[in-house]
Amino acid sequence: MPPHETRLTVLISGNGSNLQALIDAIAAGSLPHTTIVRVISNRKSAHGLVRAERAGIPTDVHTLLPYKKAHPAPSMTTAATTSAAPNPSSSGPASPAARMAYDEALAQLVLADKPTLVLMAGFMHIVSSSFLGPLRLADPPVPCLNLHPALPGAYVGADGIGDAWRRFQEGTLEGGKTGVMVHEVVEEVDRGEAVVVREIEMRVGEGREEFEKRVHAIEHEVVVEAVKEAARRWRTGG
Ligand code: GRF
Repeated sequence: MPPHETRLTVLISGNGSNLQALIDAIAAGSLPHTTIVRVISNRKSAHGLVRAERAGIPTDVHTLLPYKKAHPAPSMTTAATTSAAPNPSSSGPASPAARMAYDEALAQLVLADKPTLVLMAGFMHIVSSSFLGPLRLADPPVPCLNLHPALPGAYVGADGIGDAWRRFQEGTLEGGKTGVMVHEVVEEVDRGEAVVVREIEMRVGEGREEFEKRVHAIEHEVVVEAVKEAARRWRTGG
């Protein structure tokens, strides 16, 4: 069977060092039959957008704010007592309707490029079925993977690296180790079947920054490995 091209869409929110690892791997020829077709960020300030532009990769910024304005969260205290609607730009979390509309639009934005694979690399937005559903219904379905600096089932959340380091200092880190994984994205945060898992031994006396650097270096290897594994698993590429 001829190798199929992996058409990869990468979702980011920040620095983009994992995106850079993929860009560099493709340039070095160690990630064959793979093209990053688009980088999408939910934050226009994400440095990863600069990395993509430098590499000639199309980018898009898809922010939540317009959807919060279009679907303001009902506020019992404000709307009920004054005519002024809450200012969605500064108010709190997005309403379920805003999140659904955002996720639906994100799915269409992603699918427009006909990717064969989506990878969330530091994408700080929790997607719902409104995003995952259209990808599952695409023909062929488009797998969505997420990079998470923790072992399967260890813990969820935005600071897996900090969580592991703090627990190790407290002596509560299960098995005295952590890890990095890329897993399939499902509705439950940071769950979903792991595609690649790499364990990381903790080191007594290692500082937080030194530990974080070590984890990021491993992440940069794991994201490349995960795209290769996805290609084997879903025939999305060579
Ligand atoms: C990574 O540590 C990832 O595990 C976490 O956010 C970070 C993204 O880093 N979710 P970068 O934007 O790829 O440099």
